Amino acid sequence: MTAIFYAACGGFVWCSFLWAVGIVGCSAARKRYRLRPRSPLATAPASSVPGVSILRPLKGLDTNLYENLESTFTQEYPNFEILLSVADENDQALPVARELIAKYPHVNCRIIVGEEIVGVNPKVNNLVRSYREAAHDILWVIDSNVTVHSGTLARSVDALSGSPNAKKRIALVHHVPFAVVTENKIGSRIEEAFLNTNHAKMYIAINTVAVDSCVMGKSNVYRRSDLERVNGSLKPVPTSGSQPGTRGLPAFARFLAEDNMIAGALWHELGDRHDLSCDIARNVVGNMSLSDYIRRRARWIRVRKHMVLSATLLEPFTESVVLSLILAWSLNTLFAVPPLLSLAAHFAIWIYVDLDVYASLAGHPLPAGQRWSFMAAWAARELLALPIFLFAIFGSQVTWRGRNYTILRNGEVERAEQTRSWFQRLRQPKNYDPLSTEL
Ligand SMILES: *[C@@H]1O[C@H](CO)[C@@H](O)[C@H](O)[C@H]1NC(C)=O
Ligand SMILES: *[C@@H]1O[C@H](CO)[C@@H](O)[C@H](O)[C@H]1NC(C)=O
Ligand SMILES: *[C@@H]1O[C@H](CO)[C@@H](O)[C@H](O)[C@H]1NC(C)=O
Ligand SMILES: *[C@@H]1O[C@H](CO)[C@@H](O)[C@H](O)[C@H]1NC(C)=O
Repeated sequence: MTAIFYAACGGFVWCSFLWAVGIVGCSAARKRYRLRPRSPLATAPASSVPGVSILRPLKGLDTNLYENLESTFTQEYPNFEILLSVADENDQALPVARELIAKYPHVNCRIIVGEEIVGVNPKVNNLVRSYREAAHDILWVIDSNVTVHSGTLARSVDALSGSPNAKKRIALVHHVPFAVVTENKIGSRIEEAFLNTNHAKMYIAINTVAVDSCVMGKSNVYRRSDLERVNGSLKPVPTSGSQPGTRGLPAFARFLAEDNMIAGALWHELGDRHDLSCDIARNVVGNMSLSDYIRRRARWIRVRKHMVLSATLLEPFTESVVLSLILAWSLNTLFAVPPLLSLAAHFAIWIYVDLDVYASLAGHPLPAGQRWSFMAAWAARELLALPIFLFAIFGSQVTWRGRNYTILRNGEVERAEQTRSWFQRLRQPKNYDPLSTEL
């Protein structure tokens, strides 16, 4: 009897805690994103602002590639250059890049062709030459499927400079991803509902309380001089010194989630902090089928499992469906509240918070015409969360841009062997084929 009582108390406290996290995310999103003032740096003389090198790794024709790239050419910032990297000279992205260079002759932009193999991560291999050739210390690495507002760079440099009385230095500024769907596919819709509500809410909440590094690397601003001091071990750097061994971007080619690890390294090795500017990284999601969506989520759970196991195992208990059951049972045990009442209240508040986060990021409430399709996708996402988690938590192999990888300790990866032992086959059923539509 007492054991049940304590379990119910624990369940209720846990649910209240998760509600509090949601409300922190929601109110931080309101404060940060509803007003986006222009930075004074946007119109300052070029010599008075720090120079920025914008690095964009390209591979193939992403949905919306032209507009995505153009949004970097039109940044309102007096001192920047753009480096577009492609791994080989037949890449389909090249004609688009050349067209933009012709359209914006006054923008300092170069195309860097040719990868350098420094590890298993193809994005790092593609970027490493641009990283070395960049003229400025501040780097803005931004994925090819991301579009940004023209004021983003100026506001991000502002945020990177930090406020004068802050205790910790800011080593990285990132932008919360916001999905934009161009194709009416079910996987794309679910991805949109996820990124624009629950994911954004948790991302902003975790970054507001700032207990640990939590960065998705769609669009990150940091200094090369900082990266040159760290090696990805997450062990503190000796005061004002550098780590032994390989440092800088090449040191992160052994990870699949290199952007996440770079952020972690700046946080843990240098003891610095991150900040969000009030900008969003509009992530254009192309054709994504339901199975693309599932594999994509499973991939990130598998990567995270090897980086932060305890947090990953807690994940299902932060999802609305599991929480609603815990809440209904706890309240029924403690106060004899009818379960249906708890469930209704829980989901009403949860949906209200999620849609408020959406409105903060989008700059407008959910359009009436999209209400039902969006909510259907939202419900599908909530219901799929637990099954995807269970599917992903067993197994360590992921497919990324058509190649198979095995994830090792700490999030390092190696290219998967073609032949696998019976034991591996048992743990990893045959359900992974290359992601042909991965953007
Ligand atoms: C990174 O630096 C740490 C010391 O802080 C060292 O123990 C580790 O071996 C280095 N890692 C690599 C890959 O060089
Ligand atoms: C997405 O798929 C539809 C057909 O299902 C096709 O017409 C469209 O061109 C595709 N879009 C992209 C960007 O691949
Ligand atoms: C990846 O692994 C799957 C089975 O797990 C296999 O069918 C596929 O051919 C592999 N892909 C590559 C590119 O090796
Ligand atoms: C966007 O591009 C990055 C690499 O540039 C890729 O890892 C990611 O999966 C893409 N995201 C979407 C939603 O297509």
